[in-house]
Amino acid sequence: MTAAPQRPPWRHRHLLDVDVLSVDELHLVLDRAALMAAVVERGTPLDALRGRRVVTLFHEPSTRTRVSFEIAARNLSADVTSVNVATSSVTKGESVVDTVRTLEALGAAVLVVRHGRSGVPWLVARHFRGNVVNAGDGWHAHPTQALLDLFTLLGRLGTDTLDGVKVAIVGDLLHSRVARSNLWTLTAFGAELWLCGPPTLVRGFAAWAAVLPPERRVRVTTELDEALDGAHAVMALRLQQERQQSGLLPSLREYASRYGITERRLEISDRDVVVLHPGPMNEGVEIAPDVAAGPRSLVTAQVAAGVPVRMAVLALLTEAGGDA
Ligand code: NCD
Repeated sequence: MTAAPQRPPWRHRHLLDVDVLSVDELHLVLDRAALMAAVVERGTPLDALRGRRVVTLFHEPSTRTRVSFEIAARNLSADVTSVNVATSSVTKGESVVDTVRTLEALGAAVLVVRHGRSGVPWLVARHFRGNVVNAGDGWHAHPTQALLDLFTLLGRLGTDTLDGVKVAIVGDLLHSRVARSNLWTLTAFGAELWLCGPPTLVRGFAAWAAVLPPERRVRVTTELDEALDGAHAVMALRLQQERQQSGLLPSLREYASRYGITERRLEISDRDVVVLHPGPMNEGVEIAPDVAAGPRSLVTAQVAAGVPVRMAVLALLTEAGGDA
């Protein structure tokens, strides 16, 4: 038996993005998530957050992210309050900062924030004495999604590194906070990462990839076959129809035929290729229904991983005496 590796202690008070986490810190989350998965399996809540109030404050629609945060918090015995922004004072013009102060005065210890504008969780963190978790801000970051994707992928591959693993992220990269967070975690674990989509939806990424340090291996292509060739994992992204400005795409049908992930397109990938999707899916657009529901699909495993991974994050943040 090999001894468990020594990890540095967790030092963060907030989880705003994954780009500030070292590989060791990412492993801390993954190790804790594996323990939490066993807790979920046993079905007996832990006491880690007993007496603390976790508030989910979602300014955008969400099913899996909000519900899995709430289940995760309850599994740690927290009191959970879910603010329905549509019926809250936000609709009367209350600012984000006023809302944060109000929730703090009402005893919130942890705020889980989703907002359509990039950067709002950082603003919240500056005005809140407790812990803040970014549950998705604008096009910018979605750290817990990237962590659960990493947890799911490593679990399926049965390894703790992505050295030698080709991963393709395909679709609407431009509007994707999921992709922007996954870029950090996947490359930190050594994946060879390919970003693929129509020119209008990958713009900016090539210039960005060119200035990355050489150990972060990122390639950008508009040719799906190039991205899928020999790939071990393919992550399809939702075409964010609510965020498309007019003129970015000729038509949905054309998009689906050029960039949709189908069994036939996957024939050039590794024979054991797995397929991820953060959901919600537009089946028949970015992913064919038989791929989404087929044996290569990790979609359900990703959703299930949301609970232990978010339990791990909540536990680490609240037990740390961290700074940032
Ligand atoms: C994503 C999101 O909201 O960023 N979904 C999720 O959290 N699972 C991706 C998306 O909306 O396409």
